[in-house]
Amino acid sequence: MRPQNPNQEKNVRSKMQSAAIPVFRSKRTIVKRGFLYLAMLLAFTFIYTFLEPFWLETKTIRIADNDIPAVFDQVRIVFLTDIHHGPFFSKSRLRRLVQTVNRLRPDLILLGGDYVHRSPEYIEPCFQELSLLQATYGIYGVLGNHDHWEDPILTRESMQKAGIQNLDNKGIWIEKNGQRIRLGGVGDFLYDTPDIRPALSGLQSDDFLILVTHNPDFFEGQKTDMMDLAFAGHTHGGQVTFFGLWAPLIPSQFGQKYRSGVIQMGNAKLIISHGIGTITPPVRFFARPQIIVATLQAIDN
Ligand SMILES: [Fe+2]
Repeated sequence: MRPQNPNQEKNVRSKMQSAAIPVFRSKRTIVKRGFLYLAMLLAFTFIYTFLEPFWLETKTIRIADNDIPAVFDQVRIVFLTDIHHGPFFSKSRLRRLVQTVNRLRPDLILLGGDYVHRSPEYIEPCFQELSLLQATYGIYGVLGNHDHWEDPILTRESMQKAGIQNLDNKGIWIEKNGQRIRLGGVGDFLYDTPDIRPALSGLQSDDFLILVTHNPDFFEGQKTDMMDLAFAGHTHGGQVTFFGLWAPLIPSQFGQKYRSGVIQMGNAKLIISHGIGTITPPVRFFARPQIIVATLQAIDN
């Protein structure tokens, strides 16, 4: 019905306007709230990326193999890599790491390199702390690209002083009660001349071989018939990932292939750790720092 006079028309118009305002306001409120929640989520994610590097995970893996001698059944291997002691990974944090590892009562400790970050001044303090590691069959390690950048000579000297045996392009036997396993190391893929031959030297096909190297790219195209178990780091699990599924930046020539986890290569298992520390910026997202604990399981033939 049409209003009879101008006053009536004015009243109707003002009623219509006042009815429209709440609708308009409520839409604006929803949009505002949406932005607020999004901002809160982004802020939480941003803060979380700085907290995840402290959220250390102990990842346990069982390795069952016919070549493991009975006397080495249940031997516990702890693999630590990419500690990156430096401006973002303090000495007290390193000390706590060593205490955590010793509490795991490892039989053998393997170190995958990249001990320090940004300066050679961290090398000696790092190995002073690592000298407190304890393992029945000893502690062995290789160098990573950061160790070659900082000071490989000082790194090897400091390792030796700390009672850690360098395994770059070397192989040794670990023996017990007349049985043995082979432990070998390979120099860094990018800054050393990796040579697997010393690790394979004197090896029989039924010997159990454990290999350690820094950069998993080394394993691409390698013959795996004599290998049983291998450890590598370097990729930091991508460090910042899309919910653990994919990482935009990986220091590998083979994309996501060697990012993280256990990769079956023929009969051999390659374990790639996320590592302990970080490179710059000191953040992680869905790539928690890891201590790897691999337990050997002998299988009766
Ligand atoms: Fe690293």
